[in-house]
Amino acid sequence: MAHAIDVRKIPFEFTEAATDATASASQWHPTQLEWNHMLNGASLTMPYLEPFLNRTMREALTHIDDADLREDIDGFIRQEAQHYKNHRRYNEILKANGYQELAEVEASFEADYTALEKRSLEWRLAYSAGFETMTMGVTEWLVNDRESLFHGADPMFASFILWHMVEETEHKSVAYDVFQKLSGRYWLRIAGLVWGSLHVGLMSRRAYIVMLKKDGRWNQLSTRLRLYKMIGRFFGRAGTAMVRALNPAYHPDKVEDPAWVHQWREAYARQGENFVPVLDTKKQGIPPQF
Ligand SMILES: [Fe+2]
Ligand SMILES: [Fe+2]
Repeated sequence: MAHAIDVRKIPFEFTEAATDATASASQWHPTQLEWNHMLNGASLTMPYLEPFLNRTMREALTHIDDADLREDIDGFIRQEAQHYKNHRRYNEILKANGYQELAEVEASFEADYTALEKRSLEWRLAYSAGFETMTMGVTEWLVNDRESLFHGADPMFASFILWHMVEETEHKSVAYDVFQKLSGRYWLRIAGLVWGSLHVGLMSRRAYIVMLKKDGRWNQLSTRLRLYKMIGRFFGRAGTAMVRALNPAYHPDKVEDPAWVHQWREAYARQGENFVPVLDTKKQGIPPQF
C-alpha cells in the first residue's frame, strides 16, 4: 500500500520587515543568533538540494513498475517542490535584508549539484536516501525540543520550519525504498548516509559563516562556543537516527513519529484550503493548534 503523503500548498507570508519578535526580517529568533543563522543556512540549501532529490527520483521512476512505490515517489516530489518554493521565497528576503553575499554561496551550491549530477543514479539514490534518513533525526530534534528552539521566535518562520518537518515524516521511507529497490547495497547505503548528511551540513555551514561574518560575530569566542553547543545537540539528536539506520534490518516505517506530528496533521486537516498553520510560539510547549 502506498503511504499517506498529503501535499499541502501553504502560502507562508514572510515579511520584509522585522516582526515584534525579531530585530530584523532575517532574524527570526529574538536571542539565539547562532541558531538563527544555522537554520537560515539550512534554508538556503533547500532550493538546490530538494530539486536535486526530485530530479533523482524522476529518473528512478523510469526504472520502477511498482504502482504503490510510483505513487509514493509522486507524493515525495510534490511535497519537496512545495518545500523548496517556500524556502526560496524566504531566502530571497534573507538576501534582501543585509546578506547579499549569500548569492555567492548559492552559486557554490549550484556548482556542487552540477558535479553531483555526474555520479551514477545508484550513488545519487544513496545520497538521497541518506539525507532523508538524517532528516528524520532533525525532525525528531526540532519537534521534541521545539520549546527551547522556537519559544518566542517569529511565529511564521517557526511554523514554516515545523510544517516542513511534519511533511518529512510522511515521505520518510520513499527515498529509502527506491534505493532498496534499485540497489540495496548495504555499504553504499551507509556511505550515502554519511555523504548526504555531511555535504548538506557543510553547505549550511558555508552560509552561516557568511552571515555571522557580516554581523561581526564570527570571530567571537562566545559565538563559536554557542555554535559548537548547537552542533553537539544536532549530533546528539540526529546522530541517534543515523546510528539506528546502521542496522541492516532498518526501515524508516519502523520508526514512530513524535505524537506532536500526528496532532499537527489532525489540526491542519480540520482547516480549509489556503489555510496558513501559524503556531503560537509564546505558548508553553508550542501546542499543535492553530
Ligand atoms: Fe523537504
Ligand atoms: Fe524530504
